[in-house]
Amino acid sequence: MIRINENYTKLKASYLFSDIAKRVAAYSQAHPDKSIIRLGIGDVTEPLPPVCIAALHAATDEMANRATFKGYGPEQGYAFLREAIAQHDYAARGAKIEPDEIFVSDGAKCDCGNIQEIFATDIRIAITDPVYPVYVDTNVMAGRTGANRDGRYEGITYLECTAANGYIPALPNMPASGEPVESVDLIYLCFPNNPTGAVATRAQLTAWVEFARKNKAVILFDAAYEAYIRDPQIPHSIYEIDGARDVAIEFRSASKTAGFTGTRCAYTVVPKSVMGYDAAGKAHPLHALWNRRHTTKFNGVAYPIQKAAAAIYTDAGQQQVRALTDFYLGNAKLIREAMAGLGLKCIGGENAPYIWVNTGRDSWQFFDLLLEKAGVVCTPGVGFGQCGEGHVRISAFNSRENVEAALQRIAAALK
Ligand SMILES: Cc1ncc(COP(=O)(O)O)c(C=O)c1O
Repeated sequence: MIRINENYTKLKASYLFSDIAKRVAAYSQAHPDKSIIRLGIGDVTEPLPPVCIAALHAATDEMANRATFKGYGPEQGYAFLREAIAQHDYAARGAKIEPDEIFVSDGAKCDCGNIQEIFATDIRIAITDPVYPVYVDTNVMAGRTGANRDGRYEGITYLECTAANGYIPALPNMPASGEPVESVDLIYLCFPNNPTGAVATRAQLTAWVEFARKNKAVILFDAAYEAYIRDPQIPHSIYEIDGARDVAIEFRSASKTAGFTGTRCAYTVVPKSVMGYDAAGKAHPLHALWNRRHTTKFNGVAYPIQKAAAAIYTDAGQQQVRALTDFYLGNAKLIREAMAGLGLKCIGGENAPYIWVNTGRDSWQFFDLLLEKAGVVCTPGVGFGQCGEGHVRISAFNSRENVEAALQRIAAALK
């Protein structure tokens, strides 16, 4: 008899996006003449930068020629891309990362979901609330949690991000409530944050790195939205913090940087100095474990896609990516200003493409209000965790025309 992984039965079905889809469908049916503007989903709308398109075409032509055709490439990525990443994303910011510490992949979602495989099952994990759901669900699947009770899994340490702490979580041993909690081994942090758009300062990241060093813990740092940082004081990488090379793994993606959500290219950095420990307390480099995992289960990103990703690092590519992210940040600014004008408190949108609005009421109620009265779709914050109650996430990923129209409709609806 084939048995299933029963951990999957613990997963709380995520009704968030299907609930949204159902409500939107019902609204469309009731109001067939009304157009709907979607500011809910975190997907990009603008086309790939021209340098990426040119690189894709050129690399496709190489694949058509026997002399330049490529079969399997290195599983960890081609040297041309790993070297460009090490130079532009790290050395240029004073962070020392070697090309062979970079693992190119087809997505940060897969990487931040798969990374937990290299850790023991009985470790304690810490996850922010609200959170990008992949971190939680992949640990549930792996058996690192108990049952879900009232929206939270037993065995997870939830790091609350609320208006009271500026949406930046306190260290696990000093929560806002003052109640001591258990020590944690694996900490998921995401800055700029999805869904809140919050960014962490150098001092805040330094505290986390010191915490991890002291507790022999590891930080998983998701920097998928790094390209949206405009404040020069905010670190783009965890490796800009002294000592982080020994305790942190970082995830990056071209998805939101260069519109690669449908093209797929990302990377994970595992410095050779980050250690994990066996039951006897012996240290093992996590780089060797991840290299083993990656080369056993992954066969590399397509050559034309890696060429397109490398084009981002040319001078023209850097300018085009800046223009693209500036465009979405322009939308974000309009959204922030409109919310403030309506007397709603919000964060994010300055160094991130998401605006986290404190609605002062039930988040589904606010969602329904915007849908019914304005025909605008946002994402109810409670879908990202208990602490998201009372909030909605508005995404800046849309055309300027749609954002402007949506904001006019919201203003009229909330008058
Ligand atoms: C925080 C965060 N990490 C990772 C991802 C996934 O990125 P990718 O498209 O590279 O899989 C997303 C996508 O929305 C995200 O919000």
